[in-house]
Amino acid sequence: MTRNLLDIVDLDADELSLVLDLAQRPALPRVLDGQGAALIFEKPSNRTRHSMEMAVVQLGGHPVYTRGEEVGLDVRETVEDVTRVMAGYHGLLAARVFQHDKVVRMAACSPVPVVNMLSDHSHPLQGLADVLTMQQVHGSLVGQTVAYVGDWNNVSRSLAEACVMLGAHVSLGCPVGYHAPDEELERLAGLGVGSIRQSHRGADAVRGAIAVHTDTWTSMGQEAEKAERVKVFEGFGVDETLMAHALPGAGFYHCLPAYRGYEVAAEVIDGPHSHVIQQAHNRLHAARGVLAFLFGVR
Ligand code: CP
Ligand code: NVA
Repeated sequence: MTRNLLDIVDLDADELSLVLDLAQRPALPRVLDGQGAALIFEKPSNRTRHSMEMAVVQLGGHPVYTRGEEVGLDVRETVEDVTRVMAGYHGLLAARVFQHDKVVRMAACSPVPVVNMLSDHSHPLQGLADVLTMQQVHGSLVGQTVAYVGDWNNVSRSLAEACVMLGAHVSLGCPVGYHAPDEELERLAGLGVGSIRQSHRGADAVRGAIAVHTDTWTSMGQEAEKAERVKVFEGFGVDETLMAHALPGAGFYHCLPAYRGYEVAAEVIDGPHSHVIQQAHNRLHAARGVLAFLFGVR
């Protein structure tokens, strides 16, 4: 059966642990030897493009970067026509899309694995790198509190899924109107041995946390809402005052790109407890681990 990674929950808890193990193995078989990988981007990227391209190369394959406008998903031709055609050239299809439904439709008709490289719904490759980095820095996440302060969005959803599946207690601090709905909290609580709670104050959210995450207040595609969001998110920036409510020495994490002075203060992201560069570098290892998994390495 073809496996895909559209969301973290496409993996079960054992598979998630296996992917994290594969990500750290010194050598992996060249499962993409002689095969292409189509990487379609409807939005800009630094980390995702470079880490995926290099992961494909390290597994023996050949990445083909493709701008969204070139193929025009549902504009020049349908998602299904693009997918079926490209699957004849490539062993792997991956896409960064505005609407999550496009990667779902790709996976529904693709005979080769499909990877979501960020949608409006989720960012599973980022979630993998996030938990990999926290495990390297803090050890097992079982029973640890992981806080996320900011927008309930693609990044926080994938982070929360991965953390709960690994046994962490996730603590969200999101402004009203930009928070996780109750049905999402219930779904997440049912995912694993961890738990999830939500407050509407950053200081409450980070209490007892070993790790504090945030993300931009204005995601790609929401630029028109920026002024309104900056007003609503006032008080949700991660600065040293907020970090003082977390455990002493708590780590700071951000998927990047970061906007200093908005969701995070320079003193925190550029400070001694920031792990954002290690986190970004782990995007490569996480991508290599999950591609190896999708191609059958166990
Ligand atoms: N974190 C992340 O996905 O970065 P890029 O948008 O640069 O790929
Ligand atoms: N939430 C952000 C993440 C960027 C990597 C966005 O979707 O733009």
